[in-house]
Amino acid sequence: MAYELHPHEKIILAAIARLGIASPELIAADTGLPVDSVHKAMLWASTKGLLHIEETIEERYELTKDGEETATNGLPEKNLLRRAMDVNLISKLKTTMKVKDFGIAIMWARKKGWVELAGDRVKLTAAGEAALKKAQPEESIISGIKAGRQPGDAATAAELVRRKLLKVVKRTKRNVRLTAEGKGAASVLKGAKTANEIGQLTADMIKSGSWRGSKFRRYDVALPAAPLLTGKRHIITQYVQKIRRVFFDMGFAESAGPFVESAFWCFDALYQPQDHPAREMADTFFMKSPKQCKLPDKRIVDEVRKAHEDGGATGSTGWRYKWSPDIAANAVLRTHTTAVSARNLLGVEPPAKIFCIGRVFRNETVDYKHLPEFTQIEGIVADENVTFRDLLGYLKEFYFRLGFKKIRFRPAYFPYTEMSVEPEVYFEERGEWIELGGAGIFRPEVTAPLGVDCPVLAWGLGLERPIMLALGLNDIRNFYYRNDLKLLRESTILR
Ligand code: PHE
Repeated sequence: MAYELHPHEKIILAAIARLGIASPELIAADTGLPVDSVHKAMLWASTKGLLHIEETIEERYELTKDGEETATNGLPEKNLLRRAMDVNLISKLKTTMKVKDFGIAIMWARKKGWVELAGDRVKLTAAGEAALKKAQPEESIISGIKAGRQPGDAATAAELVRRKLLKVVKRTKRNVRLTAEGKGAASVLKGAKTANEIGQLTADMIKSGSWRGSKFRRYDVALPAAPLLTGKRHIITQYVQKIRRVFFDMGFAESAGPFVESAFWCFDALYQPQDHPAREMADTFFMKSPKQCKLPDKRIVDEVRKAHEDGGATGSTGWRYKWSPDIAANAVLRTHTTAVSARNLLGVEPPAKIFCIGRVFRNETVDYKHLPEFTQIEGIVADENVTFRDLLGYLKEFYFRLGFKKIRFRPAYFPYTEMSVEPEVYFEERGEWIELGGAGIFRPEVTAPLGVDCPVLAWGLGLERPIMLALGLNDIRNFYYRNDLKLLRESTILR
């Protein structure tokens, strides 16, 4: 025999050998074991190939809620007949029953030819008179089910299902029989003593010494066991942890910023003109309360204003329009974590490397690719000596450490960076390049007003898309909207 057997397995094997094909309930009754223990022992023995579990799906009729009501109050059309004996005006009859029941009752009584209507009058037909005196097939079925009997009359039962008085409930029934190997095991068991075998050593046994001379059941670590489903972190959280580790390893410090942000940090400090389309309602969630945020120091606000209006001291000509502090004070849900990077620029002491991973919000129509909130990975490197090549190098290294071997860059445009690129990584499994977000070197119009006079590399990358591809998901909603326990249990994170 390949495996040691648990005492319960021995008991059920012997029972099944006697019973032939048996259900767990029958085995429990036969052996005196609780059904739960029988189920467990059955599973163990079946993974060892000793028994075969046959599953059959059994369909049963059960009463619906309306069916239960009918069982107590009677069939509506029959109730109508009874009442119509005394009251034969529809307008009056109506007041004696629930409106819904009355409609149903009239419908069925007419369909069955039990009543005739003439104006406001209801008249019982001969069939109606007869029906009053005799139990109807529907009534027998309903009372039968109530008493635990399944209907024999399939046509009427089907009709009651259509009337939503009955429903069909499917149940899996299990039956077990011994396999050839199981029969062998059972025959060896016959006559063998199992009673004094010890499965678990207790403190009492040690104290009293009663274990001496007993046989111990062997512990088999190779036995298949039920999976242990413990709590774990959400997939997105696991990835965030992994990415934080990569940044820490690369010498970055972590930062965070508020979800409710001023347009100033989200747009103005990033040199996005105030009539830039990205600020419009279509994309940005504007707050009702608070409607406005406090702006930073007047000195800084002034510098940003000058950058927009005529370039100020940045060497640029600016956007050439009248900048409004009121628009800059509008409270929005941050549309990108670049708002955090803008805040980080203020007072930064180069050389500095700072990242931020956080939720951002955009007014997107929800579909398989878009959610109104998602996660961005933001980073800046402020250093006298960095160049565009360093930017590409940081991004390459970052993705390399996350397990992506191939990365390429496409030229791009952002109002706050020059040069600008969109990094893409190659997905081996799909044979596809996918876009990740944006990156570039902050323009002097961004850095100078915030008091930074060295180059600053910056990037803002999407988190959910690469994870979806890594996990083979094709719908971003799977992460949040559906409590897909199977996905949450089975997904593993690349280490
Ligand atoms: N903020 C940009 C976005 O949301 C990405 C970006 C960040 C681009 C930093 C350049 C520099 O997509």
